[in-house]
Amino acid sequence: MSQKLLLRALSGEVLPRPPVWLMRQAGRYLPEYRAVRAGGGSFLDLCYSPELAAEVTLQPIRRFGFDASILFSDILVIPDALGQGVRFEENVGPILSPRIEKYSDLAILNTEKAVKRLAPVYETVRLLRKQLPSDVCLIGFAGAPWTVATYMIAGAGSRDQMAARLWAYRDPEGFAALINILVQVTAEYLIGQVRAGVEVLQIFDTWAGSLPEPEFRRWCIAPTKEIIRLVHQEFPDMPVIGFPKGAGPLYQDYSIETGVAGISVDPSMALKFVRDHLQSSVTVQGNLDPLLLVAGGAAMLREAERILSLMNNGPFIFNLGHGIVPETPPENVGELVKFIKQWQS
Ligand code: CP3
Repeated sequence: MSQKLLLRALSGEVLPRPPVWLMRQAGRYLPEYRAVRAGGGSFLDLCYSPELAAEVTLQPIRRFGFDASILFSDILVIPDALGQGVRFEENVGPILSPRIEKYSDLAILNTEKAVKRLAPVYETVRLLRKQLPSDVCLIGFAGAPWTVATYMIAGAGSRDQMAARLWAYRDPEGFAALINILVQVTAEYLIGQVRAGVEVLQIFDTWAGSLPEPEFRRWCIAPTKEIIRLVHQEFPDMPVIGFPKGAGPLYQDYSIETGVAGISVDPSMALKFVRDHLQSSVTVQGNLDPLLLVAGGAAMLREAERILSLMNNGPFIFNLGHGIVPETPPENVGELVKFIKQWQS
């Protein structure tokens, strides 16, 4: 069998049409996902139930025929596994307690226990490798240390990541100790996913854009580079996609310095910049506005056409600039995927 499209794109090949998958392609916009969730149990129970997690991972593959499948889990399984309690509250979002607010609070984190708690996720990966169609690539993922730390410190999602930014300014050494714990556990977690069968990794740094340049280098680029170095020590050829959302022009240094094979760009990025400054060194992934997938119709297809014609002259993966929102009509996703699959440069 010839190599999967996503792997070909990540090795730098320019394809007649790019592979397509969408961040948050499994989730509440799908009635079949809501049916599984209605079956009782918490969101984290679902993440730790291999059969059910594999089922919801497969739902969008069956319905839309994506070229890649992202493991169903969450970036916050890491703090949960470290022993900080995590729960997801309806219409509120994640709640983490107790909050990790200072160096001495790190004592509650148990790195030994973490790896054990994440074993069900590896089982999900093994089930998926048996159940996925042979041309669909399986992507594993984790949150980047900075983004995961912002939740651990605020104890919830926060608009401006104030608590984490203040800790990093006031006590950089203590904050570095938290980041280092996350680097080690995240690398171990990603290596476990690769051993179980994922073929590509993505690192989500959703709140990268809230840091000024020196802090971006220290808390986003450096930890990501170290995680990728640790993964590549065991699996030298494993392609990693980085997503430092909101990093603006600093996407360029991130894509050159961290060792990523691919860079996922958010909708605010000008495609001329992306083409001239990112695509020359790595494969680009992106960047349709998720709200165009809610709007659908001509506006959605016009923007998809613009992205394809500007980006598919180099190595490219079609995706959104951020995750699918729950308000998205599934038929718009179907129309988009059909459009990409029929497109030819
Ligand atoms: O299909 C996929 O993309 C795979 C699964 C996936 C989820 N979360 C499932 C999920 C992935 C890759 C994530 C990543 C994630 N999780 C990020 C980084 C990307 C991004 O979206 O910025 C972040 C910041 C989180 C943390 C998180 N998880 C929040 C803030 C929330 C609550 C808000 C919300 O959207 O509900 C979640 C919950 C979550 N993660 C859901 C899903 C399907 C919804 C939970 C439910 O079913 O009730």
